[in-house]
Amino acid sequence: MARIFLHALLLLLLQFPLSFTLLMNPENIIRPMTEADLEQVLVIEHLCHRAPWSKAMFLSELANPLSRVDLLWRGPNLAGFLCGWRVCEELNILNVATAPNMRRSGVAHTLLEQALYRNLQTGLECALLEVRLSNFAAIALYRSFGFCEIDRRLRYYSDGEDALVMQLILKEHSS
Ligand SMILES: CC(C)(COP(=O)(O)OP(=O)(O)OC[C@H]1O[C@@H](n2cnc3c(N)ncnc32)[C@H](O)[C@@H]1OP(=O)(O)O)[C@@H](O)C(=O)NCCC(=O)NCCS
Repeated sequence: MARIFLHALLLLLLQFPLSFTLLMNPENIIRPMTEADLEQVLVIEHLCHRAPWSKAMFLSELANPLSRVDLLWRGPNLAGFLCGWRVCEELNILNVATAPNMRRSGVAHTLLEQALYRNLQTGLECALLEVRLSNFAAIALYRSFGFCEIDRRLRYYSDGEDALVMQLILKEHSS
């Protein structure tokens, strides 16, 4: 039993650039969003995106059983969030944002790592997302996990910018 656990841990360590220092940091708390967090989430959303999600959009995520919005708190401050939909063996990452004053300190990395790790426990096989072609920071984040570009959607965003579709295969489909 202990050997199986160690083997699984080794596989995960090889699979992800784990930031254990951050996960072990007692100041970092990740928990699902509730309606009470809405105003603080919207502040970060508006600081981070050209076409921010509205209050109604976040409320519909909270009501959607496929969706989960994780928040990362550093002490009393909301540092960032990640929204993903789990559909069968796939995790679709829909939104990731870090408060501008908390960037490059591992917030998005920790949120993504935690979402992948949690979903791996229940048979996740791949993760998918769309990202603006010009979003070098986000593309670098996803590449650091092993996401690869698999498609490009022309003029996907309302301002005409293309999207890259990126995918991370965690397990070959078994059928
Ligand atoms: C993209 C974003 C979520 C990254 O959040 P973050 O918390 O600053 O990212 P992290 O600190 O966890 O960075 C993890 C890794 O991603 C890459 N990365 C993140 N920001 C980067 C940047 N500005 N330039 C280059 N690489 C970057 C690096 O590989 C980094 O590891 P390192 O710091 O050890 O080099 C953040 O910049 C953001 O909120 N942007 C606006 C919203 C957005 O674009 N969301 C993504 C939509 S698809």
